[in-house]
Amino acid sequence: MLNGKNILIGITGGIAAYKICELIRMFKRNNANVRVVCTPNALNFVTKLTLQNLSQNEVGVEEFNIEQFKPEHISYADEADIMIIAPATANTIGKIANGICDNLLTSIACAFTKPMIIAPAMNCGMWDNQFVQENLEKLSSAGYYVLEPDEGFLACGYNGKGRLCELQKIFDKTVNILNGEKFLSGKKIVITAGGTIEEIDSVRYISNYSSGKMGIALADEAYKAGAEVILISTVNAEKPYGVIKVKSAEDMKFAVENEYDTADCIIMAAAVADYRAKNIANHKMKKADNVENITVELVKNPDILQSLCKRKNSVLCGSAVSDTVKEKAPVIVGFCAESENLIENAKVKIAKKGCDYLIANDISRKDIGFSSDYNEVSILRKDGAIKHLDRMSKNDIAKSILKEIYG
Ligand SMILES: Cc1cc2nc3c(=O)[nH]c(=O)nc-3n(C[C@H](O)[C@H](O)[C@H](O)COP(=O)(O)O)c2cc1C
Repeated sequence: MLNGKNILIGITGGIAAYKICELIRMFKRNNANVRVVCTPNALNFVTKLTLQNLSQNEVGVEEFNIEQFKPEHISYADEADIMIIAPATANTIGKIANGICDNLLTSIACAFTKPMIIAPAMNCGMWDNQFVQENLEKLSSAGYYVLEPDEGFLACGYNGKGRLCELQKIFDKTVNILNGEKFLSGKKIVITAGGTIEEIDSVRYISNYSSGKMGIALADEAYKAGAEVILISTVNAEKPYGVIKVKSAEDMKFAVENEYDTADCIIMAAAVADYRAKNIANHKMKKADNVENITVELVKNPDILQSLCKRKNSVLCGSAVSDTVKEKAPVIVGFCAESENLIENAKVKIAKKGCDYLIANDISRKDIGFSSDYNEVSILRKDGAIKHLDRMSKNDIAKSILKEIYG
């Protein structure tokens, strides 16, 4: 699986350092070249001799190795396809997040330009520390792959979050990244796109300026990341994945609900009209010389997002719901387009609808949103967390949204 891949493992001074001996063996069994670099403190927990034998390579600790013409931190960084820091101590996380390079490992990390996985492990109090969390947030926003620790009984005697995640998780993530980051393999993602079209007569309709670009970018990125994708769209799109063309809000509701049972995630990026004409004339309505005003009576459209959330939440609230049922329920993501008080309105909306994530964007700005290839959004999570994504291409926004949900 990893034939010829160069994996650089950085070990820091945490009690979980001994577990990395087995991780090295997992990589070696899959034909990877493994190099290990340790902080001086890591050697209190695991010996250089062990690591050297398991990796079949010299282990780096000293930064000032004057026998080489190229500084070691540069040659290690150049050679590797990926760097994994495991276990990552609170101390080393803080240094990397702040550009501090005071030993060989942190200097390599600073010079490293390829993918880097960081697997923190520490006491639960350290994990909950505000500054540790801020440093980790900084690293994930900058594109580092942070693998959260597990909860359980910790070596320090406490029960809580802080155990190094399973080695298999670090191994699988490495394989995924090196083989093209198919982090959505095995997931079915249903995405809606475009503005719905609500007919008035056989030639006229009510719609909105949604171009469908955000929904299509999400579908493209989910597909590239290995998901089975169903795009339910009001705009035409020729794609290598499933596309269901719909027109009105009612068509869209029917199509989405049809996919509900088999979906792992439903992302409602379409701009669904709130109202539709009560009566649709089946011929072109004629202009009459003596009629100055006409009235088109509108009725409320179904709220697709809210009804999906109701369906999910009513199942989850039922008595004796098994874990399998909980796991099978799709993640539901809504979009909200606002022209003022973006975050306040989005907070009200996520609470009212009951979705897992709400992506809020400001449609009053001309440089993002409708028809533009760019967007700037805030991702609101059900638990109250908010993450802001600065202005970038809709494809990059899509990647970040998918990573936020499944990263
Ligand atoms: C027995 C023992 C276990 C430790 N385990 C951890 C740990 O799991 N995670 C952590 O962040 N720090 C742990 N520490 C503290 C770190 O070793 C300390 O912060 C050190 O400065 C880390 O250095 P390094 O990041 O350069 O390796 C431990 C210290 C001791 C004495």
